Amino acid sequence: MRRNEEGIYYAIDLGGTIFRALRVEVGAGSVVTSRKVELPIPEELTKGTIEELFNFVAIALKDFVEREDGKDEQKALGFTFSFPVRQTSVSSGSLIRWTKGFSIENAVGKDVAQCLNEALAGIGLNVRVTALVNDTVGTLALGHYHDEDTVAAVIIGAGTNACYIERTDAIIKCQGLLTNSGGMVVNMEWGNFWSSHLPRTPYDISLDDETQNRNDQGFEKMISGIYLGEIARLVLHRMALESDVFGDAADNLSIPFTLSTPLLAAIREDDSPDLSEVRRILQEHLKIPDTPLKTRRLVVKVCDIVTRRAARLAAAGIVGILKKLGRDGSGVASSGRMRGQPRRTVVAIEGGLYQGYPVFREYLDEALVEIMGEEVARTVALRVTEDGSGVGAALLAAVHSSNRQQGSI
Ligand code: BGC
Repeated sequence: MRRNEEGIYYAIDLGGTIFRALRVEVGAGSVVTSRKVELPIPEELTKGTIEELFNFVAIALKDFVEREDGKDEQKALGFTFSFPVRQTSVSSGSLIRWTKGFSIENAVGKDVAQCLNEALAGIGLNVRVTALVNDTVGTLALGHYHDEDTVAAVIIGAGTNACYIERTDAIIKCQGLLTNSGGMVVNMEWGNFWSSHLPRTPYDISLDDETQNRNDQGFEKMISGIYLGEIARLVLHRMALESDVFGDAADNLSIPFTLSTPLLAAIREDDSPDLSEVRRILQEHLKIPDTPLKTRRLVVKVCDIVTRRAARLAAAGIVGILKKLGRDGSGVASSGRMRGQPRRTVVAIEGGLYQGYPVFREYLDEALVEIMGEEVARTVALRVTEDGSGVGAALLAAVHSSNRQQGSI
């Protein structure tokens, strides 16, 4: 970092069920999170007004900032806002639409950085947004800071998305725009990817019907944390209706979202000989008592299939990016020490589903090897960046506030 970028920066990370605030110390050769707080977002705030949501965020941030740092000097804030945004500058952008169960109507089309700045000013907090970033972009920024071979970032958590570094001249929308590096980050919003080649089951269709953003985020609905448990529940419900595997308990399987993705993971990862954890979950969460071992095995199988499909689709997405960048084995270094060798590639990755579910990770790795072959897959490293989405936003806030001091963009 340059000397004038060193200092204390704040970041907030808003984009799922948990809200995070971070205090980040940016030094000459280091970036350290000195403090962090996590708060669940009350469900009613995800459906109210933007003023209510951002007031909650502003008050939590005020509490966090004023605990240690003075009130006088204005501080720069990296704002990680993980929803589709039409970016109008480094520090501004308007919300295109909500995803992941949020549905605050009066926010669509508004500049979310400005709304947050108004909420911060309204409660007298001397902090201003200097960088507005998607979580994938924050993750890429931190990944790239630590390792310059990092060319893309992927989030697999409550929702899913990816971004990568593209040559500016290859981006039609940006013709004529120059950047110092000649590159630009493309936020793919891959959760909204759709293709007629993607087989859609009746369960995917039923799930889509249950959501507030019907017909949107089709890829995300097959992959990410909010949805996997529900897909498995829909399968089990259909089995209960068409057979007697669950006895009289079929009705208990008819309630949407009673099988969360953490429960699906716990079912799949139960390695006890009598599947006692599966029995407990069925009893306590789905109100299905006394299942025979054979039925519990069937439930594990369903959770396995849903997990495996999700992990393999995510892997296919990652290979798609590597292919676009010529890093899927087709490009080899043409000069220097690594001549003739495939280039080393790092993909920064984050998200509760990926980080908290080892079986998902195994299936994803397995699929990467299957698609690219072992030799090429060995040159690609998926690297977890702890809190990268927030810390990366603080880094970008640091760079951008010093650029502003110097009068450039
Ligand atoms: C949002 C993306 C975000 C992803 C992961 C998706 O629902 O549209 O902007 O990056 O979730 O949080």
